[in-house]
Amino acid sequence: MEKPKLLIVEDDEAIRTPMKWVLSEDYEILLAEDRVTAMDLFKRETPSVVTLDLGLPPYPSEVREGFAALNEMLSHDGFAKIIVITGQGEKDHALKAIGQGAYDFLCKPTQIDELKVVLQRAFYVSQLERENRELQLQSNGEPFAAMLGASPEIQEVFASIRKVATTEVPVLITGESGTGKELVAKAIHQLGTRKTSPFVVINCSAIPEALLESELFGHEKGAFTGAHIQRKGRFETAQGGTLFLDEIGELPLSLQVKLLRFLQEQRIERVGGREEIFVDVRIMAATNRDLMESIREGRFREDLYYRLGVVTIALPPLREREGDIMLLATSFSPKYSTENKKKIKGFTAEAIRALETYHWPGNVRELENRIKRAVIMAEGSKITPQDLELAPQHAGYEGRGLKEAREGFEKDFILRVLSRNKGNLTKAAEELRIHRSTLYELMEKLGIKRVE
Ligand SMILES: Nc1ncnc2c1ncn2[C@@H]1O[C@H](COP(=O)(O)OP(=O)(O)OP(=O)(O)O)[C@@H](O)[C@H]1O
Ligand SMILES: [Mg+2]
Repeated sequence: MEKPKLLIVEDDEAIRTPMKWVLSEDYEILLAEDRVTAMDLFKRETPSVVTLDLGLPPYPSEVREGFAALNEMLSHDGFAKIIVITGQGEKDHALKAIGQGAYDFLCKPTQIDELKVVLQRAFYVSQLERENRELQLQSNGEPFAAMLGASPEIQEVFASIRKVATTEVPVLITGESGTGKELVAKAIHQLGTRKTSPFVVINCSAIPEALLESELFGHEKGAFTGAHIQRKGRFETAQGGTLFLDEIGELPLSLQVKLLRFLQEQRIERVGGREEIFVDVRIMAATNRDLMESIREGRFREDLYYRLGVVTIALPPLREREGDIMLLATSFSPKYSTENKKKIKGFTAEAIRALETYHWPGNVRELENRIKRAVIMAEGSKITPQDLELAPQHAGYEGRGLKEAREGFEKDFILRVLSRNKGNLTKAAEELRIHRSTLYELMEKLGIKRVE
């Protein structure tokens, strides 16, 4: 495989040469000592990552050549990842560079390990962005256009979608709020033979129980006070197509019986009606509740559960989809940037760290909303943790005592490590570098429940 290209802009030979030695194993190294040579190489070789010393000849003790190079590079390729290297005590310059679109900064003397990590991440992000742009170009108009994801977890979901799309079986879609349940239902509909017929959605929790029955099954004239005319319900509107029952866990027991009857006989009865009506509708349902628990509590019929869930697609939470957070983030940011006429070119390194470590209780929806907001709020060309409201001061420790703040942080942190390790205590304890029994005690103390 070809090595990725890295441009090192550094006038000090004593730094340049060792850098080349240690990095040439992983990268194809391009070297420049001044701005003009750097720009020439940058345009000719199009490296996706650059390390840029700010003090360059003819003014090596100032930063003006460095800043000029930074701006020229970014106006040539706004997606280039430029890592600024500054002298000691020049953090102000570094921050200014980030404000102008640099990706990250390092202070001299640079630690080689740190440099390697920063470079690895920069190349990774740059590659993600590129793949994502390509994905968007290719997938225009494809049924999966609206659903992005490269993690094995989401690829498995895509595979299930393809498999069930051409069948007629009911599908039950489970997953936390905002994980894309409705999107999955739509994708199945669009990939199947019913795609030219209606896709009808009904949210079982949004309609009062008294109205839900006639909303679903329709009613005859005079069926109840106010029923002046006959009305068709959603089952009949969906004729030939798909009916998506969102928040199925909220469906009252009486209607669960009627739904079960439909699933067995493909027939419904309007409220106040005497005849049975045949409807050809495929049922899909979604829930963010644990239906097994509802069954145990007597709020959901077990027989209906098995009928509905002939195939169950379980959507993984976003925090468990390796790599997808950045993939989605780099797809949402240009979208909202164009929509709001802003010129956002990606994220600062800190923003990326914040995005990757956050717990995402609201999953993809929350990510999309945070990015939408950040694009509007951003003052620089790159989104910062502050713009995303993911900076430490937003963690909600403000105004708490030290003890409470510490426990809050501990709890957040442990939760994140646990979820990353899918609840595996041994692995989580390893990552936290504490003993398993200590982790256990901490979880007890902080009120963290064990999830299997
Ligand atoms: N894989 C994905 N790629 C792109 N966008 C996604 C993806 N998954 C979800 N979204 C977006 O996230 C938002 C939430 O998705 P959706 O409404 O399908 O979630 P949900 O699981 O039904 O949520 P809820 O439980 O709150 O009803 C939508 O705007 C959707 O477009
Ligand atoms: Mg939904």
